[in-house]
Amino acid sequence: MSTNLTEPIEFSNKYLKAFWLKNAENYYIENRTIVVNLGQQKAYISVSPEKYLHPRASTILQEVSLKSGDSLLLIEIYDPINIGGIILDEGWHQLGEIIDFPKDVPLWKSPQYDLGIVEFDPYFVTGLADQPQPDNLRQHQVKVNLWFSPALTNAAIHNKHAVREFLEVHTQIYGTGRMQKFHTNDFNTLYEDVLMSPGDTHIPFASVNEEGQFVYPWHQYYADTDCIWMANEFHPID
Ligand SMILES: [Fe+2]
Repeated sequence: MSTNLTEPIEFSNKYLKAFWLKNAENYYIENRTIVVNLGQQKAYISVSPEKYLHPRASTILQEVSLKSGDSLLLIEIYDPINIGGIILDEGWHQLGEIIDFPKDVPLWKSPQYDLGIVEFDPYFVTGLADQPQPDNLRQHQVKVNLWFSPALTNAAIHNKHAVREFLEVHTQIYGTGRMQKFHTNDFNTLYEDVLMSPGDTHIPFASVNEEGQFVYPWHQYYADTDCIWMANEFHPID
């Protein structure tokens, strides 16, 4: 099996460098880099005592090696000057221009990329089961894209994403924001506020219903500052 396969992900060439790293084996990370584990195995970090990055978790690493990891996304910001200009890069669109979404919400989306297929137990991943069950393992297509909003943006409360729901978690890339939960589709009914700093990925907001579909509480992203965050989507494959 070939190791340390890297594929550039072209969210932007100007402000950040993103790489998909497959089959990591003693892969050295020199500069400060956000590392997201999008695989199905723990990614061991070459340190003593031994530590690792769980699937669907992230951190910031520098001057250390990844001993292992089947699928990781590495993002390094190399120039934050004019970073709001990322939305002017090719393939970025204001969401209200491309789908049925409020046109007055300043939310921009990058191109989306497919990053392999992973297998997991949805009940375990959403915290409904304490251990993964072999009978419940399902395959999921991984898709990633970046989002941008300026400071003080309510990026819109929602509880559905697609006809066939997927699992989403978000990784903060730049600035500070929040993932928020609400009792109803009303900003006054907030009941949980999950703060997001660069390198953070929140735990899944989804649960699984009786039909085995992902279901969500009312939720939104809120940007405290100008923010870039990444959607990590896991789409069920039949
Ligand atoms: Fe969502």
